[in-house]
Amino acid sequence: MNERDSEAVAAQLVARGYTLAPSEDTADVILLNTCSVRDLAEQKALNKMKSLAGVANKERRSPVLGFMGCMAQSRGQKLIDELPDVDLVLGTQKFHRAAEYLDNILAGTREKIVDVAEEKDSEATIREHLLNGSAKKSVSAFVSIMQGCNQYCTFCIVPYTRGEERSRAIADLVDECRELVSRGVKEITLLGQIVTSYGKRDVPLRDGKSAFVQLLEAVHDIDGLERIRFTSPHPKGYGDDLIDAYARLPKLCESAHLPVQSGSDRILKLMHRGYTREKYLGIIRKLRAARPRIGISTDIIVGFPGETEQDFEETMALAREVEFDQAFVFKYSPRRDTPAAEMPDQIPQRLREERNQALLQTINGIAARKYEDFIGRQAEILVEGPSKKNSARLTGRTRCNKIVVFEGDERHRGQIMDVKITRAGSFTLYGDAAILM
Ligand code: 5AD
Repeated sequence: MNERDSEAVAAQLVARGYTLAPSEDTADVILLNTCSVRDLAEQKALNKMKSLAGVANKERRSPVLGFMGCMAQSRGQKLIDELPDVDLVLGTQKFHRAAEYLDNILAGTREKIVDVAEEKDSEATIREHLLNGSAKKSVSAFVSIMQGCNQYCTFCIVPYTRGEERSRAIADLVDECRELVSRGVKEITLLGQIVTSYGKRDVPLRDGKSAFVQLLEAVHDIDGLERIRFTSPHPKGYGDDLIDAYARLPKLCESAHLPVQSGSDRILKLMHRGYTREKYLGIIRKLRAARPRIGISTDIIVGFPGETEQDFEETMALAREVEFDQAFVFKYSPRRDTPAAEMPDQIPQRLREERNQALLQTINGIAARKYEDFIGRQAEILVEGPSKKNSARLTGRTRCNKIVVFEGDERHRGQIMDVKITRAGSFTLYGDAAILM
């Protein structure tokens, strides 16, 4: 989501006559988009800004320096008080103001600007795309369908940094997707904090279908679009209408990133997640019944306050039962003003670390076996462009969202191809398209 916000700001600046600098060393403006989900991300952004300011001062250059996004939103003016070289602090509802503010700062009419106010309809302003930025982007694009979150998980800072849930209109989103497809995009990923809550307050159910499923159907109708994905859904919104959409809509890829966070009902309740372990497992069963080869990934937090050995064991058992294709495991990080930060029985850092290692080992072992299962099989790939590590090779994704690297050339970009998988690496498959052509 942050990448998408950054891309939209960059596209807005380009439309205003700015050009993208090849590197930060020569840039006249450097904006850091920030994440506040874990403390580590905030520290990284602060250190990066300190280093940028240090280098600029040493070289007697004075680029305009700015923070935007979640940390800008939650810290506001304090960022400038602590880092006086910073000129601009742009909150999460103000991305679209970047060009105007930078014009003012560069023209010398405004010195420093902090804007972290709420702004009605700002959710509809994340819509410009660069597309030509990288090969990958022109085949596959992200579309931001909503902003904010109303779930208030007790560990999470997002409702405070991104505000109330606000959804864009279906017609507006279809227009954006249609335009992307007309510019060569073949795959669209619909983005939001909790996409399954999309339009809940504005769009009534139709034939038992949620607003989100109605949006999926509308995007599915676009000619020339080959694949649809979305991230992230919430288990509480994963109704049968959505399961049914997987069975009905062929462009909807058989992959789901479904954050579980914990396998213990006691912890799920303390987290304010709004579902039980059994409800989660039920969704997975239904998804696999609808699409047996579906790729399933998740997010898990270890070391949430009060997490006992027994709770952690239940998370391990859930991971073994589901057999995720991939999981992002996070050590709990206390966030300011969130209820969990004040809960008793905070787990010592060392134990969080141990549980993180143990869970990752289990999950990665299972995932490695699942990747190896692909060897010898044929997979349908959407070719995104040259591989990042080796530009002589191509990269693409299977419908179940696995990265595949194989020999091929530029003319294959944007094509759907069958590739025979010959080898499995760490979260990457290697294949051979030639033998099928
Ligand atoms: N500590 C650790 N991980 C967190 N996440 C969200 N808040 C925290 C926190 N305070 C994780 C969740 C979420 C992912 C994006 O980040 O797993 O799904």
